This record gives sequence, structure tokens and C-alpha cells, in this order.
Amino acid sequence: MTRRVAIDDVARHNQRMWDRLAAAGIPYTRPQGTPPKTRAAKRRFLDPNDRLAGMPLDGQRVLALAGGGGWHPVLFAELGADTTVLDISARQLKTVRELARSRDAKVRVVQGDMRDLSGFADGSFDIVWHSHSIVFVPDAHRVIGEVGRVLAPGGVYRASTMHPVTLRMYGTWNGTGWGFTQSYFEDGAVPFEDATWEFDDVKVDAPTLEYGHRISDLINACAAAGLVVDGFWETTPGEISTKVPLRALSRERLIAERDDPEAGSDDALERYLPAFIEWRARKLSPGGSGSGTSTAERSRKASGTRRGGSRTSPRQRPSR
Ligand SMILES: C[S@@+](CC[C@H](N)C(=O)[O-])C[C@H]1O[C@@H](n2cnc3c(N)ncnc32)[C@H](O)[C@@H]1O
Repeated sequence: MTRRVAIDDVARHNQRMWDRLAAAGIPYTRPQGTPPKTRAAKRRFLDPNDRLAGMPLDGQRVLALAGGGGWHPVLFAELGADTTVLDISARQLKTVRELARSRDAKVRVVQGDMRDLSGFADGSFDIVWHSHSIVFVPDAHRVIGEVGRVLAPGGVYRASTMHPVTLRMYGTWNGTGWGFTQSYFEDGAVPFEDATWEFDDVKVDAPTLEYGHRISDLINACAAAGLVVDGFWETTPGEISTKVPLRALSRERLIAERDDPEAGSDDALERYLPAFIEWRARKLSPGGSGSGTSTAERSRKASGTRRGGSRTSPRQRPSR
């Protein structure tokens, strides 16, 4: 029997939906691709945009937050990190547990709601890695508050989620343009007409509750939690040519330039607007202004690795 871990009806609902999505095996619930063998290549596979530039992972305490269903926790462990994964879905965690076992990697698996990290002591992690899931809770500030508490001084929080403007525009094509399903200033779950998650031949009806957190709210939640944002990115998977101003391209040419998406589709919308936002923040030292040397900076200096981004993540979002 599944232990009750959801802290409210939203979490209970999304827990059921993610168990359903995992049972159907959509990409977010199956490890995608095959990681390379060498350490350096494995690390690029895990962190293709080099958001943890210069931070050695060996011995670091990593929390893969809402990180069930994929490679991330297992790869952190294989790269020497003392790794914990927390997720609300038992099925998503089962995937990680089995993957870890099959590769002889040690991952601590915890079922829980990302808004309640009370099972972890203050300052007990050096890195919180949080991909594509804060969209599933209405109160992002609560998650980020907990992240600020469990991170050690100098620790790094790296997170990604749906772009809050683009999220409100999926599925609104009317033949000539896109509109909005919800005002940017509304807080409720973003309405979707079609709750089908569709990947190749797999189609699942799973009306997850998703919240388009305003960028200012996310940044301010970091500030309130003692986290200084030192990187913020807006990305769309795949390559988009920015050599020619978008307004100078015909719609046909724009579409042809990226995988030939269907007119009015989500992929076509993501030609004009980013699919995702991603940010990195560092936990201040006690009473600190952020000017002290963080764990990450110390590691960077020690390893002499350069900072800087690389390519956009190739992750795909579900088509609706
Ligand atoms: C889109 S998947 C992302 C999975 C993984 N992090 C990745 O990037 O492949 C979203 C994950 O969030 C989890 N989730 C949803 N609501 C949650 C909550 N309130 N607390 C913890 N995990 C939650 C789901 O079970 C699912 O595993």
C-alpha cells in the first residue's frame, strides 16, 4: 500500500496522475537515452548546459528533488555524489530504484511532497537539482523556502520549469495566431482543454494540475529563502537560428527551420517563445552578503574549470 505523503488535494491528484503516466511509460517516466561511459561525457549528459560548472560532484550531498523516473539521481551517484531522490510518485521512484540497482549505484529513495522536506536536517545538502516539477505545486515559495533551509551555506540550487507565459498559450491556436488560456496574474491551475499526454504511439489522459509561476515570484522566493540567483535562462529544446530577426521570417520558413512543426502546434509556438525557464541560486553564508567564497567557488578555483553555458537541453515537453 502506498504511504500517504501528499500534503494536500493538489499533490494527491498529481501523485495519482504521475503514477498513471509512469504506468503508461511516457518519456518523463523512463530514463531517456543511454549515458556515455566516461566520467566527463556522463557529466555532460547529466548537465548539458554546464550549470554546475566547476563543481566536482565527488562527495557532494545531492538532492534530486521530484527527480523520479529518470537518469539524474543515478548519474549523480555514479559521479560520486552522496545522492538522495525525493518524489511523490511511488512508480517514479521504483524506476530510479531499479535503475540504480541494475547499475550498482547507491541512491537513497524517499517518497514525499517537495513542499515538505522536514525529513532532512537544515544544511544537509550541497546541491539541490530540481528539473521540471515545481509546475505541479501551487505554492512554489514553500518549495523554495524548504530548499533554502536544507542547502548548506554556499550550496547550489538549480531548477527548471515551464515558461509561465508560454504555458498559458499552449493549445490556443485559432488558425491565425495564439491567445491565452489564463492571465499572467492569475494563480490557479492553468486550464487545458485537452489533458492527453502524447508521445509517439503512447497517449494517456492525465489531467495534471499545473501552475505557471511568475518569474518575479520565483526570484523573490529565492531571495526570501537566502538564495542569491546567479544565473537565469529561457530555453527551447533544439536549435533555433537567431541570425535573422523573427519578424523578418515568413511563418513557413520559421516552421521549416525547426523540425518542421505542424502549424499552430506547441512546437511551432516554441519557435516564438521559450518552452522553459531555468535558474541557479547559491545559499548565502550565515549573516553573509553573498560575497564570501561559496562551496561552488572554492571547487571552481580548485579545479580551474571555466564557467559558461553550452547547448540547450534537448528535453521535450509533452504535446497536449
Ligand atoms: C516532469 S516529471 C520530472 C521528472 C524528472 N525530474 C525529470 O526531469 O525527468 C515531474 C515529477 O514531479 C513529481 N511530482 C509532482 N508533484 C510532486 C510533489 N508535490 N512533490 C514531489 N514530487 C512531485 C512527479 O511524480 C514526477 O516524477
